[in-house]
Amino acid sequence: MRSETPINVPQHVAIIMDGNGRWANARGLPRTAGHRAGVERVREAVRTAAEADVKYLTLFAFSSENWNRPKQEVSDLMGLLRFFIRRDLAELHRENVRVRVIGCRQSIQPDIKALLVEAEERTRENTGISLVIAFNYGARDEMVRAVREIAEAVKSGDMDPASITETTVAGHIDTAGIPDPDLVIRTSGEQRLSNFLLWQAAYAEFVFMPCLWPDFDRAAFHEALNEFGRRDRRYGAVAAPELAVGS
Ligand code: FPP
Repeated sequence: MRSETPINVPQHVAIIMDGNGRWANARGLPRTAGHRAGVERVREAVRTAAEADVKYLTLFAFSSENWNRPKQEVSDLMGLLRFFIRRDLAELHRENVRVRVIGCRQSIQPDIKALLVEAEERTRENTGISLVIAFNYGARDEMVRAVREIAEAVKSGDMDPASITETTVAGHIDTAGIPDPDLVIRTSGEQRLSNFLLWQAAYAEFVFMPCLWPDFDRAAFHEALNEFGRRDRRYGAVAAPELAVGS
């Protein structure tokens, strides 16, 4: 399997898992069937990322905008998250996976909140890949919450506005302590960020895969990793050969 892996492995991969509904529609199945098939790909993606030596895998499981979906679909998605944590937590723990959760904890059902806390607490000391579950997550909401925290610190006199830097902001958003994603993958052919990791993805490479999330298998994941390996990241600087010639 090593030969499938690019030399330049991203430390942090973030995925927008899109296309479950279309996958189900194409088969004449209810949308929930697509989400259920999507959960199986979540398990496979964690394993594939860990084998490829990716250190952080962030998955967009439920956005703060997803509450606008039909009541039944929201309830099915909640059920699937419960199912995933109940079924897979022990195995994730055994495989040394550390689970982290980003997103707003307010307005989520108490039992789900408790499951998320349990997943984080139980795996806190694990040293393998970090699986970051973005749940009830929206990047603008995350920034608003961070700004409020910083404003409170200023108001109470604990922080001088002049001392606020990018590091201050990075330390108040949900991903504090987690490196920025190097690679953002979105499945289903859509080419949007949809309010996902707006701050963190400033220098990420984007790979848009045409396949629907329930079809995103090991081979598709490696295809995205290989595409990343071919990219030339400059972070706003000049390409190395040009530097050598020009200045
Ligand atoms: C987008 O497909 C997918 C989602 C809104 C939910 C993703 C959730 C899962 C894969 C399952 C739960 C996750 C975990 C981590 C256990 P869509 O429904 O928008 O598809 P469409 O654009 O084809 O309608």
